[in-house]
Amino acid sequence: MAAKPRVFVTRRIPELGLQKIGAACAMEVWPDQLPPSADILREKIKTCDGLVSLLTDRIDGPLLDVAPKLKVVSNFAVGFNNIDIPAATDRGIAVGNTPGVLTDATADMAMVLLMTAARRIVEGVEDAKAGRWKTWEPCGWLGQDLANRTVGIIGMGRIGSAFARRCRFGWNMKVLYADVYQNATAEKELGATKVEIDTLLKESDFVSVHTDLNAQTKGMFNAELFKKMKKTAVFINTARGPLVDQGALADALRKGTIFAAGLDVTDPEPLPTDHELYKLSNCVIAPHVASATVQTRDEMARICAENVIAGVTGGKLTAPVNPEVEGKRRK
Ligand code: GLV
Repeated sequence: MAAKPRVFVTRRIPELGLQKIGAACAMEVWPDQLPPSADILREKIKTCDGLVSLLTDRIDGPLLDVAPKLKVVSNFAVGFNNIDIPAATDRGIAVGNTPGVLTDATADMAMVLLMTAARRIVEGVEDAKAGRWKTWEPCGWLGQDLANRTVGIIGMGRIGSAFARRCRFGWNMKVLYADVYQNATAEKELGATKVEIDTLLKESDFVSVHTDLNAQTKGMFNAELFKKMKKTAVFINTARGPLVDQGALADALRKGTIFAAGLDVTDPEPLPTDHELYKLSNCVIAPHVASATVQTRDEMARICAENVIAGVTGGKLTAPVNPEVEGKRRK
């Protein structure tokens, strides 16, 4: 009987996924809470047919070069900015991700951050705990209304649209968006209007980022952009930390250039505990948990397992990132 394909999983993912992979492959799972170091990862993948990676693992050409048998990298995430996709394609390696199943959880998280930051909830809860709640305050902890406002979505893809739907039908917001692509469905179903980014920044009460991280978008939220937002604006980022110049954001929050921010992603992750953003009461920071629900993580594990098993057996990936690799996939 042929030996089972070898798969290295860089962290414990939900059991549902591990059971599937373990049944079809000779699987090794990195047991620690922290990711394997680059040296360990290099050692581990040398003999692997498949790799299950996380967004904390950097997968690039030099790493892939040590793994002559590697046929697939299955990322346990929808984002794949941790992987050099052209390098994988050049080497005949298929790459998979977990789109779709985390759309609602991530849109919910953007909504949670928007409500939390707009209504100054973390600040209020901390004040209550610390005894700073002296009486009912007519002018204390005043936040921003959500109903009937304008939301600006940067990146109207799956997650941007799901967040916009919540804003439109939950809070009757007007929806503006900026994207390189037109989203006819969002325009028809949500009455969304595609505008130039400057118009979006000027007119939106809330700005939420749902674009992917690439050479063009890295650092795009800089001092100049924050200056174009309303003083009452709330800025939400559930996409990727490096999209934002965090020094400029801290400045904008400190000086009142904008009202508040809610971040599920930072640069780096984790954000060091002495970072200036933590010191600002109008900045809410969550530890990159947008997809962290039981059901969503199970679904991500299922797709991730399907991708890696298809990859090592020469089958069709459930969610391929680089379909252009077909025809030259490693056997
Ligand atoms: C999480 O950030 C993901 O890309 O799935």
